[in-house]
This record gives sequence, C-alpha cells and structure tokens, in this order.
Amino acid sequence: MTRRPLFAANWKCFKTPDETRAYIDAFRPGAEELIPKTDIAILPPFIDLETVRLALDGTTIGYGAQDCYWEQQGAFTGEVSAAMLGALGCEYCIVGHSERRRLFGETDEMVSKKITALLAEGITPIVCVGETLDEYKGGLTLQRVMQQVSDGLGHLEDGERANLVVAYEPVWAIGTGLADDPDSANRTIGYIRQCLGGLDEARVLYGGSMKAENAAQFCAQPNIDGGLVGSASLDAVTFLKLVENGAEMRA
Ligand code: 13P
Repeated sequence: MTRRPLFAANWKCFKTPDETRAYIDAFRPGAEELIPKTDIAILPPFIDLETVRLALDGTTIGYGAQDCYWEQQGAFTGEVSAAMLGALGCEYCIVGHSERRRLFGETDEMVSKKITALLAEGITPIVCVGETLDEYKGGLTLQRVMQQVSDGLGHLEDGERANLVVAYEPVWAIGTGLADDPDSANRTIGYIRQCLGGLDEARVLYGGSMKAENAAQFCAQPNIDGGLVGSASLDAVTFLKLVENGAEMRA
C-alpha cells in the first residue's frame, strides 16, 4: 500500500497577510518542484486564508485552517464554521491540537463533531492525538492515544477513517526542541493504526520539534507518512528544506 506523504505547516498564531504573501512568494517555486513527491499544505491563521488561496492559485499546494466550528452558521460569536472553510476552498483542517485541548478546553466529543462537519464539506481533518509529559513518564502513552482515537474517531466508518489524516504529536515534544525518538514514534503510530478499522490506510504524521535535520529519520519509518510542523514551518526556506529531506525518504 502506498500512502502519499504530507507535510503540513501549522503556523499557529503567527503571520499577518503581508507576511503571508511574502512567505508564499518565497515558498511557491520550490514547493511546486516537490509536489510530484509529496503533498504540502499551509495552515495559517483564519485571517490569512484568503491571501494563501490567492497566492497559491494555479498550484496543487494545499491549504486549510487550524480549527473550525461544527454548526454551519448561527449566533456563535467568534467561530468559523467548516462550511465557511469549504467555501474558501480549504482542503484540510486541524482538529484537536493539544494547544486547543489544553488552552481552550477542546474535548474528544468536540473533536468528533468537528470531524463530522468537515467530512460533510469534503475537507480532510488532520486529527491530533498525543500524551502529556506526565502520561509519558507514567507509561500511559498508548492508553492515552487509544482513548483519543476511539472517542474522536469511533463514530466514523472504516472508509471515512481511511481518508483522514492523524497527527501523533507528543505534547512534551511540541515547541521544546525535544523530538520523540523516531523508532518510538513509529511504534506508537503503528499502535494507532491498529486501534480502529481504516487507520492502517490513513495517513499518519509525526509532529513535535520536527526539523530539516531530523525529518528524514522520521520519514524513514514505515508507519510515518510525513509531518505536522510548527516552528520549522515559519520560514519558507527552512520548511522547504524539511519537506525536501522528508519526502526524499519516501520516494
Ligand atoms: P513544533 O514543530 O513547533 O514543535 O510544533 C508542532 C506542532 O504543534 C504542530 O502542530
């Protein structure tokens, strides 16, 4: 089975529209050369999506959002719906990122509703799972990811699960410079693939201090299909190098 790699840039709360335009100008030529080998997606803050859409016009470089709301529309101040993202041509949307879980109270139940809303719009959810440092130290990694996967994705059909993207992001590895050991990440992701039907065919990414220097080691692992990248995606040249190094291993 061949799963096409994916490298997704999670910009988090960084970049204005002007900064976004400058980034895409620098990123687009190199990224277009890599597209035959791998999928690439830019996931900026909501306010930059239209800029990204216009700047990527005519390419197959994907883009999408970092969160969404599950109702189509209504009196939900501050929310942006999956339907609105669909209208803007978004191909992907992150769901259940650990920062949303920890700082904004996102639960597995909310994750499951967001996934359903995204699938109805034809948008691919990138569903984040991962254990905290305490859970890691307590040997609870597999138990934690199993719970997040079954509570977040248990309501789907196998075929729906096969078409989404899961990102294994150990919380302790995010933004710390302390990436997981690639073998260990490969084993955890292998376990995730066994949790529910369809996940063996789904693309599963690693996230958490992935850099240009370690991307190849992660992508050489049979269970790892690419990366969900934070800090190392904020500079166009650095992210291109990371994608190039990672995609090389999967070619
Ligand atoms: P870093 O790459 O900065 O560790 O962030 C990873 C992440 O949270 C991607 O969603």
